[in-house]
Amino acid sequence: MSTRVAVYRKEHFNAAHRLFRSDWDEATNARVFGKCALPNYHGHNYELIVKVTGEVDPETGYVIDLKVLSDLIQQQVIERFDHRNLNLDTTEFARLNPTAENIAVVIHDLLRPHLSDQLDLQIRLYETPRNFVEYPA
Ligand code: NI
Repeated sequence: MSTRVAVYRKEHFNAAHRLFRSDWDEATNARVFGKCALPNYHGHNYELIVKVTGEVDPETGYVIDLKVLSDLIQQQVIERFDHRNLNLDTTEFARLNPTAENIAVVIHDLLRPHLSDQLDLQIRLYETPRNFVEYPA
């Protein structure tokens, strides 16, 4: 019998960013990205929810040890992005617009290689309490 269960770990980081394309002029950036394109950056309190789905191990009763998952998120995501300017301080967003969508994809791709192929991974990222994204959709 299949016993697939989803487990979640919630984490938090603060980061600054600016949404813009360097190949667009200022007016186009302002039209498309509005206040998010202001040149001096702005910050968000990002809430990150990592969902891991898989079979319950009959020996441990775990899908994944949440301490292991928490440590992994700390090492791969929080230490990399917390209190950083995403545009200026990270290699991931040096050329990639740091929208919530792109940040979720990057976080997924940072964690995925460290998890067993038997486990499914989904990222939910809140940029504000009302605006959030999920990847994979
Ligand atoms: Ni923003």
